[in-house]
Amino acid sequence: MPWSVRAPFICSSLLLPLLIGRLTVADGAQTCLPEALPENQRSNITVEGISMPIGITSGDWDANIIINEIAGIVVSEVLGYNYRLGLEIHSLNRLLRLAGCANPDSCTTPSSYHIAMEIYTPAAALSEFTSVASQMGDAAPQNVGSIGYPGTEGIFVFEERRQAYRADTGLDLAYYFSYNASWFHPENYLATVSQVDLDHLLPCGQSVDIAWPAIGQQYLNATGDADGVENRQGKWYLKCWHDKWWPAPACRSNVSNCVAIVTGDGAWGMRTHVQLAAFHNMPVAFASAVNFDAYASVTRTLKSLAFWWSPDTTFSDLQLARVVFPQYDEAEHEQGIFKTVDNVEPLQNWIAAELLNVAQRAVRFVQGFRMSESDLNELLRTHVQSGRDAIRDARGSACAWILTHRDQWSSWVPSQTDCTVGQGLADAQGNFVAARLCHLPTRTGVGEIGEYVHLLPLPGGDSYGASFCSDCELGTMAAARGSTQCTLCRLGEFANSSAMSFCFSCSAGTEQEVDSGRHVIEVQGSCKLCPRGSHCPGSNELVLLAGYFSSAQVPRNCKGPSDLQRRCAVFWGLLLKRLPVRHPEMSTNVRNIFAQVGIRGPAPMAATMNLGSNVEEAYFLLPLS
Ligand SMILES: *[C@@H]1O[C@H](CO)[C@@H](O)[C@H](O)[C@H]1NC(C)=O
Ligand SMILES: *[C@@H]1O[C@H](CO)[C@@H](O)[C@H](O)[C@H]1NC(C)=O
Ligand SMILES: *[C@@H]1O[C@H](CO)[C@@H](O)[C@H](O)[C@H]1NC(C)=O
Ligand SMILES: *[C@@H]1O[C@H](CO)[C@@H](O)[C@H](O)[C@H]1NC(C)=O
Ligand SMILES: *[C@@H]1O[C@H](CO)[C@@H](O)[C@H](O)[C@H]1NC(C)=O
Repeated sequence: MPWSVRAPFICSSLLLPLLIGRLTVADGAQTCLPEALPENQRSNITVEGISMPIGITSGDWDANIIINEIAGIVVSEVLGYNYRLGLEIHSLNRLLRLAGCANPDSCTTPSSYHIAMEIYTPAAALSEFTSVASQMGDAAPQNVGSIGYPGTEGIFVFEERRQAYRADTGLDLAYYFSYNASWFHPENYLATVSQVDLDHLLPCGQSVDIAWPAIGQQYLNATGDADGVENRQGKWYLKCWHDKWWPAPACRSNVSNCVAIVTGDGAWGMRTHVQLAAFHNMPVAFASAVNFDAYASVTRTLKSLAFWWSPDTTFSDLQLARVVFPQYDEAEHEQGIFKTVDNVEPLQNWIAAELLNVAQRAVRFVQGFRMSESDLNELLRTHVQSGRDAIRDARGSACAWILTHRDQWSSWVPSQTDCTVGQGLADAQGNFVAARLCHLPTRTGVGEIGEYVHLLPLPGGDSYGASFCSDCELGTMAAARGSTQCTLCRLGEFANSSAMSFCFSCSAGTEQEVDSGRHVIEVQGSCKLCPRGSHCPGSNELVLLAGYFSSAQVPRNCKGPSDLQRRCAVFWGLLLKRLPVRHPEMSTNVRNIFAQVGIRGPAPMAATMNLGSNVEEAYFLLPLS
C-alpha cells in the first residue's frame, strides 16, 4: 500500500490483479469542465515514433487518485492531451513506470507513463530506482519539485489512549521512549494480541514472507536477535507466533500480552518496524490483515495503535497522532539498519524526461502544481463527507474541486500567451494575434508549413480558437499552413529533421525495409529503419538509448575486431534487461566496440555514433547469451 516500499515483483505479479478487480477508475469518459476541450480535439504525444496518451501513474488509494485525476482533467480538458491513469501500489513502482519499467529487471522504451504526482521522497533513493536511473542518464525520470504537502507513514496512536496514558503516567505515547518495556507498561493501556481474532489475519507465509523476502536476514543482521527468526531451507524468515504474529523481544515471553499492530495484507511497513520495535524495546507484535477491509475494521475496532500514512482518508474522521521515532540516519538505513525513521518531507512531482520534448505545457503544469496541507485536508474531508464511494468516485471529487477552485489550478496552467520562440497565437478565425500577446514571436501566421497548430480553449471563455504552433517531429511533416496535425512520412520516405514540409525519398529498392512513420537512418544512400533501442535525430546520427547496448559478440558476416575496423556491422543494439552500469560485460564490450567505431557521448550507457560512410549493414535486437 501507501508509501512503504518492498520487493517490486510482488506488486506487479501478485497484488495488481487483485487491485484491478477492486478498483475501477474512470479514464476521462465524461468531461468535467463546461468549457472542456472536446475529446476529438485532444492529441496524443508521440515518443520514439509511437503515438500514445500521456500516462499518469497514480497510487491506488483515493487521496492519491484524486490528486492525479485533478492533474488528468487539466491535462486533457485544458491543455488538450489525451491521458490515461494507471494504478500502482508504491511510489517506487510509479518511478519505475516513468522509466518504462514494470520492475527493475523489465524495462522498455518508450515509457507509456509520463507523470507521477505525490512521490514519496525516500522512494527515489532506493537502489531499485537509482540503478535504473543511473543507467538512463539524461533520459532518467526527473523530479520537477514539491507538491506542497508532506507524506508520512508509520505507527499512529489513537488520541483517547494517548490521553489516558498521559493522565496516569505523565508520558506521551506519541513518543517512542514511552514504550520502553523496561520502565513502562503501555500494554495496559493499548489493545493487545489477545483481543484480535486470528481469523482476520494472514499467515506469515502469505504476507510478510512474500512481501519482504529479505526481512529475516536483514533483521538478524541488524539486531542479532536470533530468537526472532527461523531458518528454513537455508533462508531466514521472521519467526511467527501461531503463524500470524511476529512479537518483538520485549513481549515475546507472553505474546498474547503484546500490543497489537495490524497492518495491511502486504505486511506494510514491516521491514522497518520490526527493527524499530526491537531496538526501542517496545512490547508490540505485528500481523497482516487478510485484506484492506479487515485492516481498516480491526484498526477501527481496537482504536489503539495503527499502521497508517498521510495523506489518506481511511481514518481521517478519527483523531490519531503519529508516533515519533529518532531522526533519520541515512548511513544506517543504507546498511539496512532501521533504528530511525524517514524524515517528514514534502511529496514530489516527477515526469518522464521525454515529456519535456513532446509536451512542454504539461511539464510546466506539473511543475506549477502546488497545494498546501490545509487545502489538501479540506479536499479529502469534502471527499469523505460527500459519501462518495472512496475509490470509484475519486474522479467525482477531483472534478468537484476543479469546478470550485478555478483560481488555484488556473495559476498552475502555463499561460497560452506565454509563447516560446517559434510559436504563435491565432484567434478563432485563425487570424494571427501573437504580435500583441506573445513575447518574442519570431514567426507569423497560423502555423507555417512544417508546423502544426494546437487548438486550445481561450482563457476564461468557451471558444476554442486560440492556438499555438509546434514543429512537426522527426519522421513527420506538414505540407500546408494551418495543419492541425503532422503527417507521417510514407513508406519509403524519411524526414531527418523537425519542421519538415516534405519527406525525402529513400533510394529505390529499399522501400520494404522502411516502416511508415518510424524514423529512418540513411546507410550508404538507402533508408534503414532506425533500430529499436536507438534514436535517429538526423544528420545520419544514431543515438543509442540508455538501456540498450551493443555487443562485441559478432554475428553473421563479422568475424572479429579487425573486421570492425573496416567495413562491417558497427552496432548490435541488444534489447535486454538493464544491466548494472558496472556490469563487466557491458563496459568492456561496449567500450571496445564504441572505441572502434568512433562513438561520441558518455559511453557506455548512452552514446552517439555517426555511421559515416564505411557502414555496410547494421544488425540489432540480438539477445545476449
Ligand atoms: C492515442 O494512442 C492510443 C494508444 O496508443 C490509440 O489507441 C489512439 O488511437 C491514439 N489516438 C489518437 C487520436 O491518435
Ligand atoms: C547480512 O550480513 C551478511 C554478512 O555480513 C551479508 O553477506 C548479507 O548481505 C547481509 N544481508 C542482508 C539482507 O543485509
Ligand atoms: C500472559 O498475559 C495474559 C494477559 O494478556 C495473562 O492473563 C497471562 O497470565 C500471561 N501469561 C503468562 C505466562 O504470564
Ligand atoms: C529502556 O530502558 C532501559 C532501562 O533504563 C535502558 O537501559 C534502555 O537503553 C532503554 N531502551 C531504549 C531503547 O531507550
Ligand atoms: C536530411 O537528408 C537529406 C537527404 O539525404 C540531406 O540532404 C540533409 O542534409 C539531411 N538533413 C539533416 C538535418 O540531416
